[in-house]
Amino acid sequence: MLDGTDDQPIEGRTFPPPADFARTASAGPDLAGRAAADRLAFWAEQALERLTWAQAPTETLDWSNAPFARWFADGTLNVAYNCLDRHVEAGHGDRVALHWEGEPGDARSLTYAELTHEVKRAANLLLSLGVRAGDRVIVYLPQIPEAVVTMLAVARIGAVHSVVFGGFSAESLRARIDDAGARLVVTADGGWRKGAVSPLKAAVDEALAVDGDSTVEHVLVVRRGGNDVSWTDGRDVWWHDAIETVEAEHVAEPFEAEHPLFILYTSGTTGKPKGILHTSGGYLTQVAYTHSVVFDLHPETDVYWCTADVGWITGHSYVVYGPLANGATQVLYEGTPDFPAPGRWWDIVEKYGVTIFYTAPTAIRGFMKSGREIPGARDLTSLRLLGSVGEPINPEAWLWFREVIGAGRTPIVDTWWQTETGAQMISPLPGVTTTKPGSAQTPLPGIVVDVVDDHGTPVGNGESGLLVVSEPWPSMLRGIWGDPDRYVETYWSRFGDRYFADDGARRDEDGDIWLLGRVDDVMNVSGHRLSTAEIESALVSHPIVAESAVVGAADETTGQAVVAFVILRNKAKTTQTPEEAVAALRAHVAHQIGAIARPRSVVLVDELPKTRSGKIMRRLLRDVAEGREVGDTTTLADTSVMSVITAEMR
Ligand code: WTA
Repeated sequence: MLDGTDDQPIEGRTFPPPADFARTASAGPDLAGRAAADRLAFWAEQALERLTWAQAPTETLDWSNAPFARWFADGTLNVAYNCLDRHVEAGHGDRVALHWEGEPGDARSLTYAELTHEVKRAANLLLSLGVRAGDRVIVYLPQIPEAVVTMLAVARIGAVHSVVFGGFSAESLRARIDDAGARLVVTADGGWRKGAVSPLKAAVDEALAVDGDSTVEHVLVVRRGGNDVSWTDGRDVWWHDAIETVEAEHVAEPFEAEHPLFILYTSGTTGKPKGILHTSGGYLTQVAYTHSVVFDLHPETDVYWCTADVGWITGHSYVVYGPLANGATQVLYEGTPDFPAPGRWWDIVEKYGVTIFYTAPTAIRGFMKSGREIPGARDLTSLRLLGSVGEPINPEAWLWFREVIGAGRTPIVDTWWQTETGAQMISPLPGVTTTKPGSAQTPLPGIVVDVVDDHGTPVGNGESGLLVVSEPWPSMLRGIWGDPDRYVETYWSRFGDRYFADDGARRDEDGDIWLLGRVDDVMNVSGHRLSTAEIESALVSHPIVAESAVVGAADETTGQAVVAFVILRNKAKTTQTPEEAVAALRAHVAHQIGAIARPRSVVLVDELPKTRSGKIMRRLLRDVAEGREVGDTTTLADTSVMSVITAEMR
């Protein structure tokens, strides 16, 4: 078996909630019952109890123009006030909001009073640059406090942010600037990544130099990397200079609950990214609610850390809005997990006494690869809850996470959701749910989902199908920026009255939900539906495998055939020949899932092509597997990977 787990088979293992958790959990056992009894009343209660409204809403859901939802539409509030001022007014001004850790080792902690002060000044700075309610602001920053400050300042004045992950190219940045019609770009000279400064301002310059006028009037530049930048007088403004010239006081005015809060671009099945639009009151209600009950947050004592970058939805909902609405103390880290050494994340957990830790399966599998000795050398006893998001977590990684990082004590919440859903939708509740490694299990109280067949008929227990959300939810996307038809077409055309999530799912014998990955990652081999995630999970359950990616490649006889790309553990490379490893793995998959799943080929590789958010780009692997020219690689974190894999395939 793997390091850190005992020899019991994983299948069928369950973990009841620890008694101490059950006693103090913020989600009581009756939460689901209350939500089921009157769903809309439940959401109204969450909105009123968790947020501070200028005008309390009397309406809950308006679905008369479906699928365009309005939640709490007659209420007004200020999102930034809810994340900042009200905590200070309640006497929590001295509580740390952010423990920020820079990659080079510099650190800065900001209390709620200090963060409120910074955001007020930044709001005045944005106003002085001509930004008004409804205007769009692009945020292209490293993971530094100014990123959080900027997002909240934009929200505070009723403008709309669109955060573009710092790893995106000038070209992608320009496409987002144009689509959003942004007036201002907030960036930095550069940010730290793996021990070096990677420039950001240069990419903004390049983006704005592309032919054709842009809508951008100013570029506001934070000094972080200390690298040289070129300067366009009249357009470019140093943050540290301009912030000294503005007033310190700013009074937050309320906006309607359906006032736009942000646009976040995400890739779809076509090349053009979709600008997912989220609004204020419903979004903040659901992120605050989920952040509280799913993470069992006790804001007075917990130190929470979500490792996501603010450039992704997880960073929006579970670094910025959820935790700050709840008055949490959290860690924000600028760099990579392995700089200057592979134990950096665990050093940070130890340094700040992190109690709640939320990360992605790809990171967990990376840690498994480098061995349990690294986390084992740190004191991780402060951890009491672990969370996973972004892709299906294979049971082995789940167990390793629990045993090695959580010392066999901590509950794990595997949270399913999407950029489009805005907040978590399916997850165990710690202290309530008996967890099963690898399953996200149950829709959260207030959320209604189903697994259906191609005709929209719900499947029975023990069967697989397509995941749909059956009822509107407060943090749902309100549309695709500038393209209402694409919104209806993408999410609502397949089943009409239900939101189609593009994910496959299985209901087990107990009715619990297991995510099977994107539907476009589901293969059809000889008429049998096979999930790439399921085969990958089988592969990584073999002790010689560190990581794997599976694609369905066109095949004349079977429709599609399984092609597996596998990274072996270092140890395995010395104990057997590549031929022996390949044979063992093909047999192993056949044994685990059935002969139908046996990979047609297993390709041993040293790296897998991943996006900067850590998702494997199966599309590129499919190109290789089908002998095609490899397609667009611009969103790859490391673009050289594909040429190496193509060479290895030959
Ligand atoms: C996948 C990230 C299985 C899923 C929050 C979804 C998951 C897509 C899980 C959304 C999970 C996310 N188990 N799959 N716990 N969480 N996914 O928009 O395929 O970056 O549709 O949002 O990630 O990715 P996105």
